[in-house]
Amino acid sequence: MTDAVRGELGALWNIVKTLADGKFHSGEELGALLGVSRAAVWKHLQKLESFGVILSSIKGRGYCINGGLDLLDLDIIKTNSHSISPLNIQIFPQIDSTNSFLMRQDNPAMKVCFAEFQSAGRGRRGRSWVSPMAQNIYCSIGWGFEGGAAAVEGLSLAIGLSIVRALKRFGLTGLNLKWPNDVLYQNKKLAGILIEMRGDPAGYCQIVIGIGLNVSMQEQQGQSIDQPWVALNSILADENLLPVTRSQLASALLDELMNVLQGYHETGFANYQREWVDVAAYKGQKVELRNGQSLVFGTFIGVTDSGALQVATETGIQVYHGGEISLRAAQ
Ligand code: BTN
Repeated sequence: MTDAVRGELGALWNIVKTLADGKFHSGEELGALLGVSRAAVWKHLQKLESFGVILSSIKGRGYCINGGLDLLDLDIIKTNSHSISPLNIQIFPQIDSTNSFLMRQDNPAMKVCFAEFQSAGRGRRGRSWVSPMAQNIYCSIGWGFEGGAAAVEGLSLAIGLSIVRALKRFGLTGLNLKWPNDVLYQNKKLAGILIEMRGDPAGYCQIVIGIGLNVSMQEQQGQSIDQPWVALNSILADENLLPVTRSQLASALLDELMNVLQGYHETGFANYQREWVDVAAYKGQKVELRNGQSLVFGTFIGVTDSGALQVATETGIQVYHGGEISLRAAQ
């Protein structure tokens, strides 16, 4: 990062921290804070809007972010988590992608990266992941596995369970996991998982697990998402449950992730199979599976003890392994 870029980020970050209180701040006040002109402040505010921040402005009062911003706080994350000590946690105000960041590290194992904003958040199957500033959880964690690709077949399913377990801590029930790893609430996507791997496909490999969890994203911020989605705090409000901060959520998530990663390391997916099938979406329902150009219809049965999908088709029970397959309810 050049000094100029660092300086620009610093100024922008100062504005974010000031406006995070949800109160009005005048252009003069922001300019004085940064030691720049009002015109420069305005440029920074435009940049913030391009990061997905929804700003209000009233003549004579200045600028505000309605409801403020719930910024991540490393101290709170550490205080609330039981399993933080072996982890090296970094929080970035902005980054291209937390997964890409860890994939660039020589040894990503035990490293955790959170970001307030991702400029190039990535989803499965080459999609982008909408990542407005300070609205959702964007988190990646690195891990090392012996046993190569086969050993991690069920990992993304087990990671889905860790998200469900973390959310249960805040009273949330009624979640489903869609194979291989989407977290759904009433058929709308609440969280997604992107696992990337490098190293020896048959031996030791390094894995980066990325989690995107919608927390407070508003309709307008998620309008480019091409599938039904939902954010945690709107569910909690509908269910008369208390809202959660992103830092509380991050702690719960790290605890459950560490728990599941250690368990998976020792015993693989078999120990999670029953719990996964209990919360599986489309159980006993007609589904369609798309893999490139090919389309298969069948009835969702469950998953094997290694995490492969089982579907009853015209030709009998078929087993499908991860990769680029997409599953959905048959129309
Ligand atoms: C999916 O398509 O469902 C997977 C989405 C994964 C998004 C997360 S956000 C944190 C991490 N960084 C990324 O660029 N992607 C993952």
